[in-house]
Amino acid sequence: MKLLIKSALLLGLFAATPALSDGDIASGAEKASMCAACHGIDGNSAVSVWPKLAGQHEAYLARHLRLIKSNARPVAQMTGISAMLSEQDMDNLAAYYASQEAAPAVADPALVSLGEKIYRAGNAETGVPACMACHGPAGKGNPLSGYPVLAGQHADYTASMLTRYRAGENWGEEDALSKIMNGVAEEMTDEEIAAVSSYVQGLYSSGTE
Ligand code: HEC
Ligand code: HEC
Repeated sequence: MKLLIKSALLLGLFAATPALSDGDIASGAEKASMCAACHGIDGNSAVSVWPKLAGQHEAYLARHLRLIKSNARPVAQMTGISAMLSEQDMDNLAAYYASQEAAPAVADPALVSLGEKIYRAGNAETGVPACMACHGPAGKGNPLSGYPVLAGQHADYTASMLTRYRAGENWGEEDALSKIMNGVAEEMTDEEIAAVSSYVQGLYSSGTE
């Protein structure tokens, strides 16, 4: 046990672990009508720059709602709405969307080969790490470490996030989790970003963990 704790500390897992929320799905479902215009009633947004929330980890959603509300992660479209959310509302909404299922989507066949390479192996020459190492072989992430689900997410949203992480955008000097992605994206090319974003959009149907 001691050894386990020590290796977890070395990996930074404890420091990085977001607080677990205890949201109520039914109350979250009621509030979700406020969000439906952009994120879809079940968290499957119709517009590809608005992220899908369906099936995302509860702790990730709860953390990001707080980041958005405090403006540490500025989302102009959500400023009015997030100001109205209580702590409990945010936990409930997170529980609701986590309980929904991401709608299936496909990758662009022309981009799959490069996308899969980056996802599974990274780019050793430029030091881009394999996405799979943290986001998992099926893109399901790891809730305890704060690694979000990527599988099925709109390619346009994923590409926009990667481009912004590459430019150094994060949620503050103290925020270790978003800074991880600054390091990951730093050396990615536009082509690699487009390919891996399309690949993860199609990961939805590629099977098990
Ligand atoms: C007017 C449109 C709009 C509305 C309404 C809206 N959002 Fe958003 N939301 C966005 C956009 C745009 C982004 C992505 C911003 C970006 O690219 O950084 C986002 C991002 C998010 C994220 C981060 C997702 C991720 O994968 O990192 C969460 C969580 C979220 N919204 C939850 C909500 C909830 C809950 C509500 C309702 C209380 C809501 N949003 C209402 C537009 C909206
Ligand atoms: C060392 C672990 C690690 C590696 C490797 C990694 N990520 Fe991440 N990724 C994270 C963490 C942690 C977050 C959450 C950041 C936050 O909560 O602010 C994240 C967030 C993201 C997001 C934002 C998701 C959303 O819904 O807004 C995208 C997109 C992403 N990663 C793509 C990738 C891709 C593509 C690769 C491979 C090139 C990759 N990541 C490699 C840890 C990693």
